[in-house]
Amino acid sequence: MTYEERAKNRPLKEEPLILGIESSCDETAAAVIRGRKLLSSIILSSAAEQAKYGGVVPEIASRAHTEAIGEAVGRAVAEAGVSPAALDAVAVTYGAGLLGALLVGLSFAKAYAFALGIPLIGVNHIRGHMAAAYLADDTLEPPFITLLASGGHTAVIYTKNYTDFEIMGSTRDDAAGEAFDKAARVLGLSYPGGPSIEKLAREGEPSVAFPKMFSGNGYDFSYSGLKTAVINYCHQREQKGEPYSRADVAASFQSAACGVLAERAVAAAKEKGCKTVAAGGGVIANGYLRALLQEKCAAAGLKLVLPEKKYCTDNAAMIAAEGLVQYRAGNFSDLSLNACAHIPLGKKGKQ
Ligand code: KG4
Ligand code: ZN
Repeated sequence: MTYEERAKNRPLKEEPLILGIESSCDETAAAVIRGRKLLSSIILSSAAEQAKYGGVVPEIASRAHTEAIGEAVGRAVAEAGVSPAALDAVAVTYGAGLLGALLVGLSFAKAYAFALGIPLIGVNHIRGHMAAAYLADDTLEPPFITLLASGGHTAVIYTKNYTDFEIMGSTRDDAAGEAFDKAARVLGLSYPGGPSIEKLAREGEPSVAFPKMFSGNGYDFSYSGLKTAVINYCHQREQKGEPYSRADVAASFQSAACGVLAERAVAAAKEKGCKTVAAGGGVIANGYLRALLQEKCAAAGLKLVLPEKKYCTDNAAMIAAEGLVQYRAGNFSDLSLNACAHIPLGKKGKQ
């Protein structure tokens, strides 16, 4: 019997012990869950080194992953208090992300699963962000609305059941996180831009009336107009030698960028008759957005499930969580699974 036949024929457990591995960008992460209970989560980041270059340098990321992956997995298994032999599956991000970076985690996961004779589960990074909510609240059950806002994606999704989704709206151009990063650059702030803008915005007032940036109908987003408005506002004042408050620009940008996310998530829940809104992705770590979502959901009588900040940005707990969803659906991967730089979120409508 081949490894694949053996691994796929193992009896499924009710509450499996799953190791998650994530290496799509600049975080080398590993985590262990038992059912929907998180046992350990290790995140080793090369962000400080990347910050010198103002963004992620793929070659530096790959090298950092190679150096950190063994430590991340070893510590995650040790801190979970389990032996590797007790693991029931290895879930790993196979895309989207930087190819060289993904290959480090994927190769490690394949070897680990093969050595233990347990199933390998390839996870779509974005589905991982969506699944983080299952660990944040172990009573969360579909249907619910998912607000996804990361560096590459912005979408309002009707999560009908664990594996069936309808994208109600998504970004037409820049993603929310990308807009934060670009606005931060204009303001001369350090990478990553989201946390830098959030920090500066605390010192300012949202006094600049930036245009609403959704040209589309329904639930689609457009952030490029807002980004251009920030660039023009700053450049025009700099050219005229007029002083302006960078903190007010940051606060105004943040208020415009987050307002539309919260409004649309609540509107989508009302349209679908959902009682719950869940959220995921790096931008959901933003304190202003979290408070706004809490306020708007409470006003609309909706339950809100927000993963802790460290499980909104890249981590492996969410990859293990999506691994659990796929494990329960019996979706296992072959060792021929390759890394994918791009995986489309899917077209608007049914998935
Ligand atoms: O989900 P994520 O960690 O990686 C992707 O899968 O893209 O998201 C990264 C994005 C970056 O654009 C970053 O600036 C943004 O999330 N981000 C934030 C905050 N923390 C991270 N944006 C706003 N406020 C934050 N506190
Ligand atoms: Zn991510």
